[in-house]
Amino acid sequence: MPHRDASPTRGVHTPPVFPLVPSGWYHVARMASLRTPREVRLGDREFVAFAVDRRAHVLDGRCPHFAAMLWRGSVRDGCLHCPLHGWRFLPDGRCAGTPSGEEPPAAARVRSYPTAVLAGHLFFHTDPGHESAPPFFDAVDPDDLLAAPPFAFEVEMPWWLVSANGFDSQHFLAAHDRRLVGSPALVRSDVVFEARAAFDVIGTGWRDRLTRLVAGPRVEMTVRSVGGGLVLVTSRVRRSVTYGLVSIHPVTASRSRVSTLIWKRAGPKLLRPFDALDVRVRADFIRAFLQPDIEAGEGIRYDRSRSLGADALLNQYLDWLSRTA
Ligand code: FES
Ligand SMILES: [Fe+2]
Repeated sequence: MPHRDASPTRGVHTPPVFPLVPSGWYHVARMASLRTPREVRLGDREFVAFAVDRRAHVLDGRCPHFAAMLWRGSVRDGCLHCPLHGWRFLPDGRCAGTPSGEEPPAAARVRSYPTAVLAGHLFFHTDPGHESAPPFFDAVDPDDLLAAPPFAFEVEMPWWLVSANGFDSQHFLAAHDRRLVGSPALVRSDVVFEARAAFDVIGTGWRDRLTRLVAGPRVEMTVRSVGGGLVLVTSRVRRSVTYGLVSIHPVTASRSRVSTLIWKRAGPKLLRPFDALDVRVRADFIRAFLQPDIEAGEGIRYDRSRSLGADALLNQYLDWLSRTA
């Protein structure tokens, strides 16, 4: 039974009810940064990520002995050692032994979670029995992509409202100076909600003026939410495509940590220095693009009864999400 957000509401506001931590794939970190065990915290759930012989594993974060934090332990001889009494855990979560030599009790195991590495980054799924691979962009080999340095931020907004941002078509004009052209095309399944739309770049700031000059006046965006916690964004201008992956980590029922990975397709080796600079500039523009969401979105509350016809896509998305998450 998933934990449900039971936080008191203010006034007559009645938000939809979503799990505190939706089941799904989450970004952990760059594989290269897993030299020591790493804490992963999602709402009230704790996990530990670590690598043995360059293979990554994710286990429950607390030791089944006296609940010490396993991410404060160390990896030796293929095992994760608990920092408090030294019980040793195999990557599959079984306890391989104790320093006293006593047989560990039958309950001395932690759950192990499915992991995947995409473009050098570790992801894990919160359901130990989950079998299918994590989502990625259509017809894109992660190994063909060149990454910008990832960035993350925290915002006072529940995870489900962060994920709804890309389907809040009304806010693109007010917050981002992007005017919707026509109606968004929708694709829906049990696990995916996707909207594709074109926008005219109408801002007068230097970034928008430069965007129009270099990339043209129109951008086509595809926003694909997978289970609500992972959002894949494809942004197309003329012949150039930028890929963005947003992993939304619940902190509390009303606060989220958002990890953002930005890529472009790598060109020929000769152009690699130019490509590396290009993808950094794109990430910088995207970070600036997201700033109004962080500022204007701080502490927002959603109330269906106050929505307009212009909020229809957002409402459709949240209806889908409430059936999915
Ligand atoms: S708390 Fe982990 S071995 Fe005792
Ligand atoms: Fe936005």
